[in-house]
Amino acid sequence: MGAIPSERPSQESELRTPLHAPSLHESGLKHTSGEALYVDDLPAPQGLLTGQVIASPHAHARVVRRDARKALALPGVHAVFFAQDIPGVNDVCPVRGVHDEPLLATDEVHCVGQAVAFVVAESAALCRKASALVEVEYEVLPACLTIREAIEQNRFIPHPFFPTHHVIRRGEPEAALMAAPVRIQGECMTGAQDHFYLETQVSLAVLEEDGALRLWSSTQHPSEVQEKVAEVLGLGRHQVTVEVPRMGGGFGGKETQAAGFAALAALGASVTRRPVKVWLNRDQDMEQTGKRHPFWARYDAGFSEDGQLLALKAELVSDGGWSNDLSHAILDRALFHMDNTYFLPNVEVAGRVARTNQPSNTAFRGFGGPQGMYVVEEILNRAAERLALDPAELRRKNYYREVPENQTHYGQAVEGNRIPRIHAELMASSEYQRRRAEIEQFNATSKWTKRGIGYQPVKFGISFTTSFLNQAGALVVIYADGTVQLNHGGTEMGQGLHTKMRAVCAHELGLPVEHVRVMTTATDKVPNTSATAASSGADLNGMAVKAACEELRSRLRPVAAKLLQVEGQPERVVFSDGKAFVPGLAQRALLFEEVTRAAYASQISLSATGYYKTPDIGYDRMTGRGKPFHYYAFGGAVVEVEVSGLTGEHRIRRVDILHDVGSSLVPTIDKGQVEGGFVQGVGWLTCEEVLINDKGRLLTHSPDTYKIPALGDTPEDFRVDLLQRAPQDNTIHGSKAVGEPPFMLAIGAVTALRHAIGAFGPPRTEVQLASPATPEAILRAVEAARTVPR
Ligand code: MTE
Ligand code: MOS
Repeated sequence: MGAIPSERPSQESELRTPLHAPSLHESGLKHTSGEALYVDDLPAPQGLLTGQVIASPHAHARVVRRDARKALALPGVHAVFFAQDIPGVNDVCPVRGVHDEPLLATDEVHCVGQAVAFVVAESAALCRKASALVEVEYEVLPACLTIREAIEQNRFIPHPFFPTHHVIRRGEPEAALMAAPVRIQGECMTGAQDHFYLETQVSLAVLEEDGALRLWSSTQHPSEVQEKVAEVLGLGRHQVTVEVPRMGGGFGGKETQAAGFAALAALGASVTRRPVKVWLNRDQDMEQTGKRHPFWARYDAGFSEDGQLLALKAELVSDGGWSNDLSHAILDRALFHMDNTYFLPNVEVAGRVARTNQPSNTAFRGFGGPQGMYVVEEILNRAAERLALDPAELRRKNYYREVPENQTHYGQAVEGNRIPRIHAELMASSEYQRRRAEIEQFNATSKWTKRGIGYQPVKFGISFTTSFLNQAGALVVIYADGTVQLNHGGTEMGQGLHTKMRAVCAHELGLPVEHVRVMTTATDKVPNTSATAASSGADLNGMAVKAACEELRSRLRPVAAKLLQVEGQPERVVFSDGKAFVPGLAQRALLFEEVTRAAYASQISLSATGYYKTPDIGYDRMTGRGKPFHYYAFGGAVVEVEVSGLTGEHRIRRVDILHDVGSSLVPTIDKGQVEGGFVQGVGWLTCEEVLINDKGRLLTHSPDTYKIPALGDTPEDFRVDLLQRAPQDNTIHGSKAVGEPPFMLAIGAVTALRHAIGAFGPPRTEVQLASPATPEAILRAVEAARTVPR
């Protein structure tokens, strides 16, 4: 089977394989029936206690006094922890060498929701009672709540190793701007977004022998949870084991921010010597965790009369919240995606992270990419309106071209650019031109309802931009009866990683998928892992699984060759569909089980680890040059909307997506990722609005005030296709990452909305649409368009 060229699915299909074939999510039926086990569904260990965070009610204050005596006097209350009760390091900052995120506040609190104390009691109700009795006295200090205030006060989070200002520059943007016939200047903002995973943050900690701990955590990053728990308790990492059964969604919100809650549960368990679970309710989760970074941008762009983008200068500032978290890496990715699919000949993009008195903002699907891309798309939309050009055509004119016009602003060549192909295929299949003309006609006669169509191409870089994180491991265990347990370093959050890894493993060993069981992710099976993030879960872990299986196959081949009477010619043995055989030989095929039993009897090891690291990537932040990405994923979307000029409400009438996932490992899973990513992007851009009051308190902390897209908000006609015949070199079986890139296709909805809103005004109306484009924002934009002089 190893002889089969994996980049060519057509040849593979001669042998039965689960790869490149549609299949259900491996837990899909269990998700539906409720049998899938999440952390809170695990059987409660004997003596289980509940832990709860006592959070700061102030955005910024000095902690003057704390006293837990009254709470501790309450029967059933086992412990109350303050900063001074932490035996190890009071810090859970995820960035190596930075210690700016105390697990429990010391002398100052920096946002509403920051953990000040941790109470452990017999029940959640008792925890609440005890929390009310814990006395913490604050002296309120002035708070900085917005990016604007932070800029005025010069409050930025310094980069731990590099200048705080990240600048990427090419050509002569100032001179090119001066010479440009058309200038587009302005500012824009994108908003925060709550992750709204269905399963809120949760961890269960159990004390084992000799002070060791075992945790079950809903985290995308079990190794970091292990690391932080060990540091907080002053233990070696060998004393801490972290397991992840599955997550009910992560979306980036459990990349770093599960660690604090896990560390508190572990602290509680190690001191009370009883199991402790921390499970946030929705309001607590929304108040205590960070969100997608809001970004502010100021830009100055120069165009030719026919819509060629000649020069761009842009300055970005993100709202990092009160501490580092991953803000600098997220800013980097925003800057790396300011070009999207466009060649920028003269460019300077620069960015900084503002420090505000907000919960520390964190990873969220796209990791800054959407925020960076939004800026260039806003500029292109304004240029199209000003120049009265079709925005799709204007975009096409600016695509990356052949060498040397295929170089990004940071110097990586855009190889295998599939955007021109996606553009052509999607324009044809969606009948963009015809529908655009029809919409113009509709709008000419419809007074209060207008329609719009928008096209959005996407290019997204795949790899962790912190290059060393691009590594993964696997442990494949074959039992003598021929069944397999698959362990890999990635976590399952609904994205279908386990389904893909099972397909890869079954393919490599020539087994039906039913013979392969994917085990819960555990740090004692695969150590030192990276977060399942940056869309690279399948890319990295898939290669590691493949490597482990190749090793096992190479051990089994000689055994099978002997049994098949071709001893000494192991390369002739093929494993497929649960059998081992030599093609063309009369000798009957062996069952895989016969081979594994024989291997066991011959004292051959039936377990192996696999390891993978992405080759040849790196970026130099000082020079702003390098190759941060292994490759790019591409996609395109055409979105049609209808807007009511009376209420500002809109409907998405139709969406056509053509997305590039290389040779899809499991097409049904990938299609689901494209649909989900797009809809989540629409949520960010149109209905999800995070609001705080003037004291920095979150107003939108539950679904009655925070609106995520519902079924009724999904496109009425939703056509998603995966780009065919598009294998990618040097990836797992020719596939490409899919988790984040489709999110940004949703920017097409903004372009469509602008088209519809502009139709309320005279030709060449430059639409002023805020983000998110809620009904209020749309109505304001419609009003502004209506009053543009004709
Ligand atoms: N899909 C589901 N259903 N649930 C999730 O939490 N997270 C997204 C994406 N798709 C997510 C999801 C994010 S932010 C990332 S980085 C990737 O999945 C992570 O998984 P992968 O690397 O296996 O694609
Ligand atoms: Mo995804 S934001 O990289 O977890």
